[in-house]
Amino acid sequence: MSNGNQEVLVHVKNMKKYFNIRNKGVLKAVDDVSFDIYKGETLGLVGESGCGKTTCGRTILGLYPVTEGEIEYEGRNVTNFKKGDLPWFKKRAQMIFQDPYASLDPRMTVESIIAEGMENFGIYQKPEERKERIYELLQLVGLNKEHASRFPHEFSGGQRQRIGIARALAVDPEFIVCDEPISALDVSIQAQVVNLLVKLQKELGLTYLFIAHDLSMVKHISDRVGVMYMGHIVELASSTELYANPQHPYTKALLSAIPIPDPEKEKNKVVLPLEGEVGSPINCGPGCRFASRCKYATEKCKTETPELKEIEAGHFAACHLFE
Ligand SMILES: Nc1ncnc2c1ncn2[C@@H]1O[C@H](COP(=O)(O)OP(=O)(O)O)[C@@H](O)[C@H]1O
Ligand SMILES: [Mg+2]
Repeated sequence: MSNGNQEVLVHVKNMKKYFNIRNKGVLKAVDDVSFDIYKGETLGLVGESGCGKTTCGRTILGLYPVTEGEIEYEGRNVTNFKKGDLPWFKKRAQMIFQDPYASLDPRMTVESIIAEGMENFGIYQKPEERKERIYELLQLVGLNKEHASRFPHEFSGGQRQRIGIARALAVDPEFIVCDEPISALDVSIQAQVVNLLVKLQKELGLTYLFIAHDLSMVKHISDRVGVMYMGHIVELASSTELYANPQHPYTKALLSAIPIPDPEKEKNKVVLPLEGEVGSPINCGPGCRFASRCKYATEKCKTETPELKEIEAGHFAACHLFE
């Protein structure tokens, strides 16, 4: 959690990431998003599957070239980094992947998986030194040095994700994109991995972009939350504000779908149905992407893209209702 620090670490400005789909056209996976991530905070990014969360994270890290727009890290332009400058950023910004089964090379030992990043950056030249550090990292993520010589298939999903976390930490990063790090895990161990990430953040002063499709989960760990809908950020506010006072019709619908632990309240609550047809991100034109499912939509919503505007201090929404 943040310490009230408002120093911008990552500045994303009008970032677009389009994919050319053969015989179909242009898929606008991320379409003009702008936001800041402050040093030491967790910014949650939520939205339904396919809305562009992973693409957003990967594009920020330079794993996908940007179609348009800019990304700054510590005030330095890291958009489509020139080759020579890339290591500077790569060492600072890492990713934890959604699927700990697919993201670890089955032919490599845990030790070599963790060592890979270190080698790329020439950290720990001496083999003993590197080994010590790998043992230290394993301990840090709740594993131990006996695990170093084993292969990914010998571990459970939760343990594999711990290996993925150790790999990300191996280069001493400052910023980590956590891409749905628990959604592929058993419910029974999800909390353990979240708690580990929270503990590491405190101990190491990390900054997180925490991607999730489950709003109820990000609430507890995020300082602020951004809500994505089909390539756009439709609302962004502090976590408490977003939950207490959601403004965008889409956010309201998402929140109403979360079960309330109190059975009396759960029984009486009103779920706002998400009706209407979900549009396609391929060749989509201007207009609010949510308009086809929004009961308040007017003609303007179908033709003009609403901008993300500050409607209250620190609370942003992209909706023509607030103009
Ligand atoms: N490498 C790619 N090539 C083509 N289309 C992609 C690629 N990656 C993602 N997409 C498309 O971009 C959209 C956003 O995907 P993604 O970022 O994975 O969403 P999310 O992480 O929110 O589920 C989807 O329509 C998806 O099919
Ligand atoms: Mg994803």
